[in-house]
Amino acid sequence: MGAEVESKKRVGVIGLGAMGSGIARTCLEAGYRVSIWNRSSDKATPLVALGAIACDKPDEVLEANRHVVVCVADYAAWMQIVGNHGLEERLADTSIIQLTGGSIDDVTEHETFIAESGGRMADGALMCFPSQLGTSEASILVAGAPDVLEDCDPLLRVLDPDWTNLGEDITKPAVLSRALTAGILSSFVGYVNGLAICREAGIPIDVYINQSVKADAIVPGEKRRLAEAVRDGRTEHTEASIDTWVGAHQTIHAVAEALGTNLVLQDAVKSALQEARQMGYGEHDLAALVEVFAANQPRS
Ligand SMILES: NC(=O)c1ccc[n+]([C@@H]2O[C@H](COP(=O)([O-])OP(=O)(O)OC[C@H]3O[C@@H](n4cnc5c(N)ncnc54)[C@H](OP(=O)(O)O)[C@@H]3O)[C@@H](O)[C@H]2O)c1
Repeated sequence: MGAEVESKKRVGVIGLGAMGSGIARTCLEAGYRVSIWNRSSDKATPLVALGAIACDKPDEVLEANRHVVVCVADYAAWMQIVGNHGLEERLADTSIIQLTGGSIDDVTEHETFIAESGGRMADGALMCFPSQLGTSEASILVAGAPDVLEDCDPLLRVLDPDWTNLGEDITKPAVLSRALTAGILSSFVGYVNGLAICREAGIPIDVYINQSVKADAIVPGEKRRLAEAVRDGRTEHTEASIDTWVGAHQTIHAVAEALGTNLVLQDAVKSALQEARQMGYGEHDLAALVEVFAANQPRS
């Protein structure tokens, strides 16, 4: 029993960039025995000062641990580490918790590679900053075989006490994290576009900040309403139709144009709204835009 407890409290971390270092630090703080490796060895120094065991080679991390978290820049970097150090021979009976960001192809090819090497894997996507790991603000989306996820659960809880299990389809974390980031990034781009418009008009940035806090109050509730309308297939009922938004957007476009600002973003918004109208959704809710973005639609 003592040996079992001891083996469960061990973890290896390969990749000590901002995120990998945060992962190693969070595991150390939770009482884990943490073995670490990074291509540039200097990144291990602050973690060794906290009690981590620096390994000269990544195969030493695999030898010492049943659970190894990998978090490097991309899958190409990980496969380079694998190739340079012959790791495919060392993966049997190891659970790789892959937290490197990747595409659908990266993830599926990696799943095949791990299976052929006799290893096990969980694939995760991080939706938080390193400083949020281990707190209620952490967010990690994970998929994998149920027995692997159950086995990795104590470790995942250390990193995110409320980690999200997306089931067995290993591609789901990559897809969901990109879908969420698409919404966040588009909103940030729009926010900065508004900043540029205000700056051209001489409206103080602090006024923009204060007013956007008020204007953004509707955003969480409205996002939920849009998603529920799509989920329930009821985009025909609305307080503000796509036609209404087209009218609102014409004034946004006109103001942005009159001030001489770059119209690249507003032209893209205009195109999406126009496509929805052409598809017959003018009187529908903004949620009907989901059909404009759907796969296999004829594009104008
Ligand atoms: N930082 C965040 O806030 C955040 C949030 C969500 C998701 N993520 C994801 O977490 C992953 C790591 O991000 P990060 O912020 O930690 O990146 P980072 O600070 O830039 O670190 C990159 C890591 O990858 C290693 N690396 C890059 N190319 C390599 C190669 N060819 N061979 C071996 N090692 C290589 C680097 O090693 P060296 O030190 O030797 O260069 C370093 O350990 C990424 O997939 C990122 O999308 C990060």
